[in-house]
Amino acid sequence: LKVIASAPGKLMLFGEHAVVHKHPCLVTAVDLRVQVSLEKTNDQSLLINTPHLNAEGRSISIPFDELFNDDLNTPNVKFILASIKNAFSKFNIRQGIRIRTSGPVNSYGLGSSSAVTVATIFAFLTLFDIPFNNKLLFDLSYASVLDVQKLGSGFDVASAIYGNTIFFQTKQDPEVLKTDYLPLVIGYSGAKVSTIDLVQEVEQKRNEIPEIIDLIYETIGKITKRARTAILNNDWKTIGKLANINQGLLDSLGVNTPRLNEPILAARSSGAFGAKLSGAGGGDCMFAIIDENSRSQIEEAIEVTGAKVLHLGLNAEGVRLEK
Ligand code: MEV
Repeated sequence: LKVIASAPGKLMLFGEHAVVHKHPCLVTAVDLRVQVSLEKTNDQSLLINTPHLNAEGRSISIPFDELFNDDLNTPNVKFILASIKNAFSKFNIRQGIRIRTSGPVNSYGLGSSSAVTVATIFAFLTLFDIPFNNKLLFDLSYASVLDVQKLGSGFDVASAIYGNTIFFQTKQDPEVLKTDYLPLVIGYSGAKVSTIDLVQEVEQKRNEIPEIIDLIYETIGKITKRARTAILNNDWKTIGKLANINQGLLDSLGVNTPRLNEPILAARSSGAFGAKLSGAGGGDCMFAIIDENSRSQIEEAIEVTGAKVLHLGLNAEGVRLEK
């Protein structure tokens, strides 16, 4: 028996960094999907195949007795292993499994390790006929992500599960927004330093001047709440204004870069309602909120700065079975 699950990538719209401190964020799922296939075997081990491993012409086999003292650095494998380990422990299962993943070659910082994690846990629960709801799926997936990267708000886990566009806040059920259209242009500015490093850098700043940084987080939280209402009202002009203010605050946290700033300014001066970076900062993506009539001129202005315009489906479906 083989089970294949897939989960979407994500684009953070509002609230990054502040969400780590219990403020809300808004995130939309993107159609960069990761597939994970699980199949029972008669071995006493896990057999793992990922695109990265395939490119190196190898797969990884981990006997159960080595499962709990691994040190593997292959992309995504840590997240798969953490997921299986947590699921094995929680349901007291030991079963040989063949695990295969596939997905986009380049995910531009949007295809998250949390998508791999969520798809793995979803496939596992299905393979072993374990009844579950979104909360159990979230708790197991989030615990697995934290096992690997130690910190993170869990917004990306929620996005991979719920898909669509969600309003997310720690320890609360995400709200799926009733919207199926977002007029955005997404630009990729280039690779960045790790999210963990950026979160820690900002955290360091907060330790030094908490009374200022906490006010910034609070304001970002308020912007996010206003943006939620504006999205529900299709009020793109207001969303653009809010994006610009949020961008200023992210800049003040020190996570803006010239390569992000250039396409952001170019988009604004060629007619976008507003533009900001998306995610931890330091590189990766920016997006602009636009009027469809000026889409092509804004895309062009972004590309002139050297950023790459990404054509992605937004409001993508959350985790699902493929077979
Ligand atoms: C990174 O994509 C978003 C951050 O808010 C970190 C997190 O929420 O886990 C910076």
